[in-house]
Amino acid sequence: MAIAYQAVAQLSELPEGGNLFVEVDDQPVALFRVEGQVFAIDDVCTHDGGPLADGILRGHEIECDRHGARFDVRTGSVLCMPAVESVRAHHVKVEGESIMVAINDSGDLPKEAPKPPLAAASANSAPVVSDSGSETTKPVAELNFDQETIVNALKTVIDPELNVNIVDLGLIYTVQTRGSEVDVEMTLTTPACPAGPEILRNSVKAVEKVEGVTKANVKLVMNPPWSPARMTDDARDILGIF
Ligand code: FES
Repeated sequence: MAIAYQAVAQLSELPEGGNLFVEVDDQPVALFRVEGQVFAIDDVCTHDGGPLADGILRGHEIECDRHGARFDVRTGSVLCMPAVESVRAHHVKVEGESIMVAINDSGDLPKEAPKPPLAAASANSAPVVSDSGSETTKPVAELNFDQETIVNALKTVIDPELNVNIVDLGLIYTVQTRGSEVDVEMTLTTPACPAGPEILRNSVKAVEKVEGVTKANVKLVMNPPWSPARMTDDARDILGIF
């Protein structure tokens, strides 16, 4: 079926890096212009209805100015709590000076940003665990601990703001063992998380408490960014998210 575009604005109304509210078929839509391309998503934040066209645009991310949820303007994918559901991304084309939009009712635009390999593997599962520096996994008997023990130790670390352990929150990206040392790559729900230093410190302590571990190297990585899709069902239950 042909997509029914309608002219909603002129390019001159949407400068590079700009946001613009328009209505399409009586539906509120937010337009953004990034690197010369125009994107359109629902103008209603899925957390509590905040207008996304009033948000702060950074690259391809729009931050709702009410409580800080972020969405990818290319796909509508939710990137950051407190929102946990994506918004719709709509069809856009530019003809001459006219920005043309068609409401995406069919779902044929990507709903989720491509997930990074680690995130995809762990949306509802344990973090990736591996034994670096060796072609095969080191026999557990040679170590005084196994990788599951490390993950369980990390489950004792609680995010003080959300009151959920960091494994179920999906903050742990990788756990690798190198003899008696353990390398952990983890993230935070937001780069500005005030509890970040405490969470990192407690992660090191928790891993180094495991018998046989001589050193925990905990590295903070913000790429790929955390997204609510990484939480386990247990975390969702605790947070009341269904
Ligand atoms: S309404 Fe958008 S984050 Fe709350």
